[in-house]
Amino acid sequence: MNCKVIYHTTTGNTRKVAEAIAAAVGTVALPIENSPPADAADLLFIGDGFYAGTVHKEMKEFIKSLKGSSIKKAAVFSTFGGQDKANAVLKKLLGDQGIPVAPECFSCPGKAWWIFNRKHPTGQELSAAKDFALKLAKSQQLATLKETGVFP
Ligand SMILES: Cc1cc2nc3c(=O)[nH]c(=O)nc-3n(C[C@H](O)[C@H](O)[C@H](O)COP(=O)(O)O)c2cc1C
Repeated sequence: MNCKVIYHTTTGNTRKVAEAIAAAVGTVALPIENSPPADAADLLFIGDGFYAGTVHKEMKEFIKSLKGSSIKKAAVFSTFGGQDKANAVLKKLLGDQGIPVAPECFSCPGKAWWIFNRKHPTGQELSAAKDFALKLAKSQQLATLKETGVFP
């Protein structure tokens, strides 16, 4: 199964989550600035931090570029200072481009301005991110096998 993990980060928190997810599904996490256009994937994990009430503008542009791509399913993840709202924004942006989005998503606090959430993401949160990714990858793999007729 073709799994991709793409993220944006300003201060490094979302990269930690992205790398945990990538390790769980056996791929490499790519920052959006180094990512080739994600034109096809069975499952695309896509994540960002939350900045001034929204996701980063580079992420918004990247998601727009996904219109018309062959992404079978996207799953979102994020880190935040105090407002756990980035996943809803990511889901809406992806949905607006016609990309099917898994209802399941992952988020956790991320260290902000040296004082808030100082120890986040924690090891426990990163391990929860891995569990989230594995569970989704397994269910998407099953869906792909059913689609191709391998499983009835
Ligand atoms: C410029 C800036 C603006 C932020 N604005 C918000 C915000 O509006 N709400 C919030 O909950 N967290 C906010 N945060 C905290 C980040 O969402 C949090 O630290 C997140 O983990 C950052 O992800 P990153 O390390 O991957 O860039 C902000 C952080 C920065 C640097």
